[in-house]
Amino acid sequence: MAQQAADQLPARDRRRGRRHRHRRPAPARGASGEIGYGIHPDRWGRGAATAAARELLRQAFEEHYLHRVYGTCDPRNSASARVLLKIGMAYEGRMRETVRIRDGWRDSDLYAILEQEWRAR
Ligand SMILES: CC(C)(COP(=O)(O)OP(=O)(O)OC[C@H]1O[C@@H](n2cnc3c(N)ncnc32)[C@H](O)[C@@H]1OP(=O)(O)O)[C@@H](O)C(=O)NCCC(=O)NCCS
Repeated sequence: MAQQAADQLPARDRRRGRRHRHRRPAPARGASGEIGYGIHPDRWGRGAATAAARELLRQAFEEHYLHRVYGTCDPRNSASARVLLKIGMAYEGRMRETVRIRDGWRDSDLYAILEQEWRAR
């Protein structure tokens, strides 16, 4: 069916179709993305966040063709920092006063992984 439709195109369009057939979709290629997660307290400590974050990375690199994925967390949130490290991200530093909370400004720790690091894991 698809071949039949292609055969009806002018030769120039058929060539163009061939050239682009196996190309990745362009929009997000090489872009950067952020992941985040929240797990119900009843389920904490069972690996759910790690599993979810791993799946998000898989989708980010394999389905959306991103180059870099990052996550941030409150510096006091040791469990979230642990999750970001467990999925292979590297600590990149502390961003000052990124979030305003009830008792003032809060810093955020930045973690990230690049596509080649994820593929080599
Ligand atoms: C942070 C959060 C996502 C973790 O979810 P989870 O399903 O319990 O996480 P996992 O079980 O996959 O892994 C948690 C890891 O942190 C460790 N951990 C838990 N509490 C910790 C603490 N106080 N200090 C250090 N490490 C801690 C666990 O031991 C585990 O590591 P391990 O596998 O090496 O033993 C969950 O607590 C949550 O939803 N919190 C509220 C929302 C939030 O903070 N989201 C993150 C913002 S990006």
